[in-house]
Amino acid sequence: MESSVSQIWPIGGGKGGTGKSFFTGSLGFLLAKHGYKTLLIDVDLGAANLHTIVGVPNPPKSISDFINKRVGTLEETVVSTPLPNLFLISGAMNNLDIANLAHEQKMKILRSVAKLSYDYILLDLGAGTSFNTIDFFMISKTGIFITAPEPTSIENIYRLIRSVYFRKIHQVLKTHAFKALADEAERRNPGATVSNPDLLLRVMGELDPEKGRLLQQELGSFHFKLVLNQLRNQDSQNIGAMICKIIEKHLALRMQHIGNIAFDDRVHNAICKRMPFIELYPYTQTALDLRECYRNLLPAKEAHLPLQRVVD
Ligand SMILES: Nc1ncnc2c1ncn2[C@@H]1O[C@H](COP(=O)(O)OP(=O)(O)O)[C@@H](O)[C@H]1O
Ligand SMILES: [Mg+2]
Repeated sequence: MESSVSQIWPIGGGKGGTGKSFFTGSLGFLLAKHGYKTLLIDVDLGAANLHTIVGVPNPPKSISDFINKRVGTLEETVVSTPLPNLFLISGAMNNLDIANLAHEQKMKILRSVAKLSYDYILLDLGAGTSFNTIDFFMISKTGIFITAPEPTSIENIYRLIRSVYFRKIHQVLKTHAFKALADEAERRNPGATVSNPDLLLRVMGELDPEKGRLLQQELGSFHFKLVLNQLRNQDSQNIGAMICKIIEKHLALRMQHIGNIAFDDRVHNAICKRMPFIELYPYTQTALDLRECYRNLLPAKEAHLPLQRVVD
């Protein structure tokens, strides 16, 4: 296959049930409808359900065929969905949990994903802050985080982003250097918590300005996106902006709130019918919100100038 650079969007959140798979399926649907060749990969091993959401009740192949070496390439596990342009690598039939994926298996998947050639590749990462989930986030600068507007979900999302942040510092510094940096930060600032990112970056800049700059640059290149899902009438519309401020203040990471998605009981109906919600209920607030998120995620001219194959 001719190789081109795919846009890879990992989609995650700190907690199950916030709507990651629903959002991944809906975004995939919109991208495909606008003519983009889109691949969804269900990496929520152990709780995979993306296949149901995109109308493939019994996927004939799954990512486990690749992990267990029944096929030679990840590409061979791709299945079609009822929508042209929308493809799926299912996580169904896995008796694996992503947290237990061996390092080599994970690296093999990451390398293979990077080689696939689609316009967009969306990774449904599932819940949790295990190393493996975090590493799937590191594959791209554009991580999308989904949370419900509840304190518990928001705490989880903060924890998840913080883990991505520290993983990046580890990656840049390598483990022993990270330990040395944390020790030095503690020595210089007795009583301060070494998990304070600001402090780590400041001490890094003092110890090794060159590396300090590299680290700032790496962390500054993340373009995290935030989506609030399942908003009800009484919820404040400003929670998203507030979370982004907290992330910027405490982790010095850029995060953009790309939209709020209203709660709608009919999401359940759409999933039960294995139909895209947007197609079944196009004029609901939730469908409008999903389209708004889509527009905010794509570079402006691409979202508004659909290609020839647009159906809607
Ligand atoms: N905006 C929404 N309004 C109503 N129900 C929703 C909404 N988003 C998700 N749900 C419901 O929440 C449940 C969990 O969604 P899912 O996408 O499977 O979550 P996750 O992948 O984060 O575990 C599903 O039953 C789905 O019907
Ligand atoms: Mg899910």
